[in-house]
Amino acid sequence: MSWDDAWREGRTPWDAGDTAPPLAELLASGELGHAKSALVPGCGGGWDVLAFEQAGIRAVGLDVAPSVVPVFAANRAKRAIDATRARLVIDDFFTFAPAERFDVIWDYTFLCAIPPAWRERWAERVDALLAPDGTLATLIFPATHPGPDYVGPPWPLHPEDVRALLQPRGFRAVKLERPTRSHPAREGKEWIAIWRR
Ligand SMILES: C[S@@+](CC[C@H](N)C(=O)[O-])C[C@H]1O[C@@H](n2cnc3c(N)ncnc32)[C@H](O)[C@@H]1O
Repeated sequence: MSWDDAWREGRTPWDAGDTAPPLAELLASGELGHAKSALVPGCGGGWDVLAFEQAGIRAVGLDVAPSVVPVFAANRAKRAIDATRARLVIDDFFTFAPAERFDVIWDYTFLCAIPPAWRERWAERVDALLAPDGTLATLIFPATHPGPDYVGPPWPLHPEDVRALLQPRGFRAVKLERPTRSHPAREGKEWIAIWRR
């Protein structure tokens, strides 16, 4: 089933129906400094995009599935956010070419959703899309060890996997810890990390 089929048919078990709690905490903490723009790749219904907007950071949600459009619009309306804010772009992360780089990139349930063979390419794209002094924030999920017959998505993802992708590109983790709050079914399976060059 394609991503677009999943959204059109409402088969979206990953959609927790609210902002990821660790992102809400990160935005409240001020750790993102004076960021003015954010990119949320694979944003789906857009809960995290809306959270950036509510924190005063202009956010672009990017998703390859056109059927996300009405879902995103409905969620934006639920949060009473104007359609001129919280922009949704339907495009492929691997070819997306915006006019400007972003101050923040937030990855949650995107890196784990793409085939592991594409992860190097994910890191190249993050490097290209993030401003030189920008912040990459990753909520690393699912940090699990399924059996050999397991087939994703989601594909297991651990801090050392993300570090191996980013370190060769000059990123270092300025924060890497277990979040204090997670969506209930994801407790113990997540790490929050902040990366800078
Ligand atoms: C597991 S879902 C996560 C959605 C959202 N982050 C959430 O937590 O609810 C992964 C999302 O990535 C999108 N996606 C997959 N491949 C993509 C690509 N190459 N470019 C942009 N979006 C993509 C899918 O359409 C889907 O909405």
